[in-house]
This record gives sequence, structure tokens and C-alpha cells, in this order.
Amino acid sequence: MQDCLDDLVLALSAEKNRGKVADYIPQLAHVDPNQFGIAVCTPEGQMYSAGQADTLFSIQSISKVFTLTMALGKLGDGIWTHVGREPSGDPFNSIVQLEHESGKPRNPFINAGAIAVVDAIMMGHEPKETLAEILNFVRFIANDTSICFDHAVAASEMAHRDRNASLAHFMKAFGRLRHDVDKVLGTYFHQCSIAMSCEQLARAGLFLVSDGVNETTGIRVVSAQRARRINSLMMMCGHYDGSGEFAYRVGLPGKSGVGGGILAIAPGKGSIAVWSPGLDVLGNSYLGTRALERFVQHTGWSVF
Ligand code: DON
Repeated sequence: MQDCLDDLVLALSAEKNRGKVADYIPQLAHVDPNQFGIAVCTPEGQMYSAGQADTLFSIQSISKVFTLTMALGKLGDGIWTHVGREPSGDPFNSIVQLEHESGKPRNPFINAGAIAVVDAIMMGHEPKETLAEILNFVRFIANDTSICFDHAVAASEMAHRDRNASLAHFMKAFGRLRHDVDKVLGTYFHQCSIAMSCEQLARAGLFLVSDGVNETTGIRVVSAQRARRINSLMMMCGHYDGSGEFAYRVGLPGKSGVGGGILAIAPGKGSIAVWSPGLDVLGNSYLGTRALERFVQHTGWSVF
């Protein structure tokens, strides 16, 4: 395994095309695109890593897996009255479907869906209370109390929130959001700003590898059925309008973020986190996807 990761880093460091760093969030535009890290954690907690696997980056939309897990814990199947579970086939920040689907987002991973999820888990509380819950949950599943928000990234998104504010106001006009739009957005942006390394992220994914249990701590996070369902949503919707291509090339449940990270789950085998800040045209890590494609070819860890 270690040789495989070292080979990957060697092969990909020669790549000229690294995609384009997200610049619609000014704080992310400063990130050096010449970085690459990968970490693989086995169910028993054996960690393999290569490249910049302990460098912190903005997990962005990968956080949506964790807030969905919390929402399922709080509302159970009730969450599906707030958000659907179908692929959208549209970009992550698209508004078009909301108009003719009565403001209900297609799935929890597009921006509108994640905003609806965070509104659902606020349950009348102030942003700081919900944020404490989100951070505690992420620290708990990663078994790492050092994980924090990056307040500069959150502030940068809040200052440039027009697109997400449009989605939120549009949903609110349909009666879909119960809280003040700016409070929901502030919570959502902080959730997205969580900074983690590939190693921390790979550990955080372990409960999805082993039917809902983190075998390294022995703690059940969700039921086996719920873990399978979260994985299926990651497979179908985790890369937005690139989900079909990711399933075709990689064949694992995966969730990307515009920080350039991808968390991929190989059920029963391991949790894989990869990071390269340059994105493809759909907003998914360009080299990260290529790395996972090569990794799966080498290990055979596809679910298909
Ligand atoms: O709301 C946004 O646009 C970002 N905070 C998250 C988007 C994202 O990560 C899309 N993923 N590839």
C-alpha cells in the first residue's frame, strides 16, 4: 500500500495540468495549486499516507456528509421532507430546479440541499450552538479534538455570499427555511470552512467503511443501514453533475469539496482522502480524481 501511494505522488507530481483553484471564494484563491496529499486508513486504523497528507485544507462540501449524518440522527427519515435524494445533474450552486420543484433541493450535497440540511439541524438554536455541535461531531468521528473552523475562509464566503444567499432566499420564499437566512448561511459557511488534513479526513470516514462503526474506537456512529444509505448518496450525488463520471472512473462513494479534497469510501476496505487544490470545470479536484482512478486500478477497491 505504501509503495502504491508513493508511486502515485511521484507520477502526479509530474502532471502539468493541475486544474484551477477555486477563486469565487477569495480566501481559497491564495492556495498553492502545486500541493498534493493522499491518506488511506484501514478499518483497524492503520494509516498510509504520501505527499502533503498532514497539511490542513478547507474541506468545504465534504462537510455536507457530516451534517447529513447529523441530520439523519436528529430527524431520521424526516430529513427527506426538507431535501430529496436524487442526483441533480446540475452544477453544485444551481438554482434552476428549485423553481419547478417547490423550493425542495434535489439532494443534501448540492449547495441548496446542504443549506436546507443545516437549517433543519439548527432546530431554533443560534448559529454558535449548531456550530459547536457540528465541530464536536466532526472531532468525534475523526477522534481528533484539534480540528477547527477556518474563520477567515468562512468570512470570505460570507462576504461573497450572493449566489448562496439567492438559493437560501429562494427556498425561504417557498417556506422551506425556518431560520433567518443570514444565520443559516453563516452556519453553513463555517461548516464548509472546517480545516482538516487528508489523514484526519480519512479517519473521519472510517464509520462509513465498517457498516456505521468506527472500529478503532469501537463506537457505533450510525446503523449499518444508514451507513449504506449515506454511501449510496455519496455515489449518486457526491460529485454533482460529475457524479456519473466519478462512478465510472473510480467506482467508489465519494464526496468532493472546492478546497480540492475528496473523501472516498471503499466499504470493508478503507477510507481514502486525497487533496489537490486545482479543480476541473465542474468544481471537483482535478488531480484528486485522477489519483483515485489510479489508486482503484492498482488496488481493485471499486464497489463494482
Ligand atoms: O457554498 C459553496 O459554494 C462552498 N462553500 C462549497 C461548494 C463546494 O465545495 C462544491 N464542491 N465541489
